[in-house]
Amino acid sequence: MPSQDREQITIPPDGKPEAEQPRWRRDFPIDWPQDNYIARRDFTKFMVLTSLAFVVGQFWILLQNFFRKRKQNPSLFEIARVDEIPVGGSRVFNYPQKHTPCVLIRLDADRFVAYSQQCTHLTCPVIAQPEAGRLYCPCHEGVFDLATGQPVAGPPRRMLPRVKLEIRRDTVCAIGWEETI
Ligand code: FES
Repeated sequence: MPSQDREQITIPPDGKPEAEQPRWRRDFPIDWPQDNYIARRDFTKFMVLTSLAFVVGQFWILLQNFFRKRKQNPSLFEIARVDEIPVGGSRVFNYPQKHTPCVLIRLDADRFVAYSQQCTHLTCPVIAQPEAGRLYCPCHEGVFDLATGQPVAGPPRRMLPRVKLEIRRDTVCAIGWEETI
């Protein structure tokens, strides 16, 4: 039998050899020092696995953000030719998906704005009323400022999501979403 450090072996209190020990002692033969060693090893393993899970979680969040940003900034969509929308006129279009209504409004000769048409209160469709300088939600009389999309009356508390616009070759195009503050 290989020699072992006596300090590393649990000495049975009665000092009898192992064969004469009660059955329970033979069933659990791990000595305390060895047990501590196993506990340390398990703890280290636990720490390594937890750190690994943490790193994987961080990568997962990064990936999610990446795809969310891509989704929020979908590809270019041509809404209308500039001369199709008179000053004070508006047009409803779907962006970025087929069933996501938005509204384009021409404020003056050079300025266009576009918003999600879903009210930020309970998602009723808002109606552009350029002559009154507002977007109006008939469900609960919510009102948004036409030029900024900020709520100015009624229950809505958040501004309407604003579509980023660009004019390319005399065509008003949606190119993503403005960052909301
Ligand atoms: S849904 Fe628009 S004000 Fe309530």
